[in-house]
Amino acid sequence: MNISSLSLSIFLLSLLISGASTLQLDPKAPLFTYSGTCGPDRWGSLSPVYSKCSSGKWQSPVNIRKDKVFLNRNLKPLIRDYRPANATLINNGFNIGIHYEEYAGVLNVEGKNYTLKQLHWHSPSEHRINGVQYPLELHLVHKSDDGNLSVVAVLFQYSVHADPFLSEIKEGMNELYKEVCKGDEEAHIPLGTLDVKQLKKNTKKYYRYVGSLTTPPCSESVTWNILAKVRCITKEQVDALKAPLHSPYKNNSRPCQPLHERKIELYNELYVKNKNKNKNNDN
Ligand SMILES: *[C@@H]1O[C@H](CO)[C@@H](O)[C@H](O)[C@H]1NC(C)=O
Ligand SMILES: *[C@@H]1O[C@H](CO)[C@@H](O)[C@H](O)[C@H]1NC(C)=O
Ligand SMILES: *[C@@H]1O[C@H](CO)[C@@H](O)[C@H](O)[C@H]1NC(C)=O
Ligand SMILES: *[C@@H]1O[C@H](CO)[C@@H](O)[C@H](O)[C@H]1NC(C)=O
Repeated sequence: MNISSLSLSIFLLSLLISGASTLQLDPKAPLFTYSGTCGPDRWGSLSPVYSKCSSGKWQSPVNIRKDKVFLNRNLKPLIRDYRPANATLINNGFNIGIHYEEYAGVLNVEGKNYTLKQLHWHSPSEHRINGVQYPLELHLVHKSDDGNLSVVAVLFQYSVHADPFLSEIKEGMNELYKEVCKGDEEAHIPLGTLDVKQLKKNTKKYYRYVGSLTTPPCSESVTWNILAKVRCITKEQVDALKAPLHSPYKNNSRPCQPLHERKIELYNELYVKNKNKNKNNDN
């Protein structure tokens, strides 16, 4: 494996994700891994541009303790207006992802639009609920015009029921695996027009907090929305997502970070509905 080109592409991708256009391009940005000497507890010292990973006070992921979350009745529902769009399946080196070259719709958070840019998976899950780590977590990464990020995170548990979205891209996953086996580390598999409608089911409950990217440079500009409903996935589907990755990235989950001063808020549709009913009664 060509470590330096992988390292560079990881760094370029990190810049892309973080939108950190003011950072200097550093071709020596080091490779990070998920264990050992380049593992998560060392990320901050691998490069000056990774310093937030150790010095940041608003880092992700976090453990969500249900008895500590704060029910915020003023939170708005997560409105996701996604469009079918041309997409490409890629092996980022440290995870499997789907990137959009064209407009794929928006997530509306508290009245502000964030455009869907890419999605990717981590296994096992990065966020935990009451200390429970799930086998898989999906991150839908959205970016606003002023450069802020908002990620919708979906947790998955093993089941006999397959995840319909992964079923839809199964052929692409097979092709990606074949390309990687042939030695093409940076395989791009065009998926054609992809419809992510399965991913925008009605969200009755979600957790909200402000944190960071979960990979270097760990930039702290991310509004997180973790869906409370844990979805179903088969063991085979999780294995297929791990298969194209090199062994240091088969487990690609950053450990939970301290909350420090932060509070995690809870949106609960039931509560908001009642409030609206009361409002209508008042009118
Ligand atoms: C979709 O993207 C692929 C890869 O970037 C490109 O080759 C193809 O022409 C695109 N198709 C459409 C309909 O834009
Ligand atoms: C946000 O996106 C929605 C859906 O595409 C659109 O109707 C709305 O006008 C946008 N709002 C702003 C402030 O751009
Ligand atoms: C969003 O961007 C604005 C300015 O562009 C900044 O002041 C604010 O802190 C950002 N919010 C988050 C959560 O990063
Ligand atoms: C990944 O983690 C699982 C359990 O958490 C462990 O059984 C497995 O050996 C790990 N795989 C690698 C490649 O580190």
